[in-house]
Amino acid sequence: MKDFKEIKIQNLVKYYGNRKVVDNFNLTIKNGEFITLLGPSGCGKTTILNSIAGLIPIDGGSIYIDDECIDDGKRFIPPEKRNFGMVFQNYALFPHLTVFENVAFGLRIRKFPPSEIRERVINALRMVHLEEHIDKYPRQLSGGEQQRTALARCIVTEPRLMLLDEPLSNLDALLRIEMRYELKAIHEKLGITTIYVTHDQQEALALSDRIVVLNKGKIQQIGTPEEIYSYPRNLFVAHFLGFRNIWNVDVIHVKDGEIEFKLGDFILNAVLNEKYKEHIHNSIRDKKKLYISIRPEDIKIGEGPINSLEMRVEVMEYLGQVRQLWGYINGNLRIEISTFEKIILNPGDKIKIYIPPERILVFPEEDVQ
Ligand SMILES: Nc1ncnc2c1ncn2[C@@H]1O[C@H](COP(=O)(O)OP(=O)(O)OP(=O)(O)O)[C@@H](O)[C@H]1O
Ligand SMILES: [Mg+2]
Repeated sequence: MKDFKEIKIQNLVKYYGNRKVVDNFNLTIKNGEFITLLGPSGCGKTTILNSIAGLIPIDGGSIYIDDECIDDGKRFIPPEKRNFGMVFQNYALFPHLTVFENVAFGLRIRKFPPSEIRERVINALRMVHLEEHIDKYPRQLSGGEQQRTALARCIVTEPRLMLLDEPLSNLDALLRIEMRYELKAIHEKLGITTIYVTHDQQEALALSDRIVVLNKGKIQQIGTPEEIYSYPRNLFVAHFLGFRNIWNVDVIHVKDGEIEFKLGDFILNAVLNEKYKEHIHNSIRDKKKLYISIRPEDIKIGEGPINSLEMRVEVMEYLGQVRQLWGYINGNLRIEISTFEKIILNPGDKIKIYIPPERILVFPEEDVQ
């Protein structure tokens, strides 16, 4: 599907009343790319998809497909002429049409011959494992089946861009993982450029070529799953990708890629990650406050070679494969750990823990929101 090279969204702005819900959104999507918008409820994901689809008027910026302007507030190509497919957050199936007719709808409008319609619809339903529900009405389907019908309706016309708004949100945990895999397979097979919306970090990591992390209508970071996971640019992204244990620290000294600091009564070392080293050096020189953050699973139990602490356990949760521990270090700093160690602990127990220096993320105060 090579009818364009890229879709360019520049300085997209959207207001509701006097609230700016999309704030200068910039993104260039290459043909065939799978892009995920990741962010908490209300951060503007659906609004961005609706703007790209042409379903709501934009208040600033422009959207281009190669050299063709599809929206800049003045020029406007209506949604039905864009050849985009969309799966809405509430799937919006036609209640009076069967699964077959729901999926066939876009093809009938485009006046495909009946035999081709049948073949395409059956193919699409097969891809989402719904062949046996072909004659049912939406009210006779579970939420997950309705969601898959909406997905089939989207892929059947082979749109040049697919906009998927939390298309797996109504599936149970197992089916969700299975459909995630199916979606990836469908994307690999059909190669349709896709913008996918979710607030689930696992889904974003598993599916995407690139992830756009959003908060309050603003882009926080754009990167590959690996970049976003390993090098979150600020504390918001880090927190969204599983970092916890956020503490203010006092720098003792910093030298090239290493930093020594005080956390309460403890002296700890961290390795600065190459990407943000200079930024952190500058912030320390400017006497900015410094914070660290560590993933619960990166804190180890036992006597470590470096960065040893003592933790007082308050709560232990048994989660099958892992155990989740909450408690305190240094008297009053809350700490959260998750561990594969098969230990049994009681409230009040004191244990030794340590933090590998390369697992500590360091943030200057301006990157902490
Ligand atoms: N039609 C509307 N009128 C007024 N405010 C709106 C309208 N649609 C959305 N909003 C507001 O704009 C903000 C962004 O909404 P949006 O639906 O884009 O969020 P979202 O990221 O898709 O959230 P969710 O994950 O819950 O679906 C929200 O604060 C929402 O209340
Ligand atoms: Mg939404």
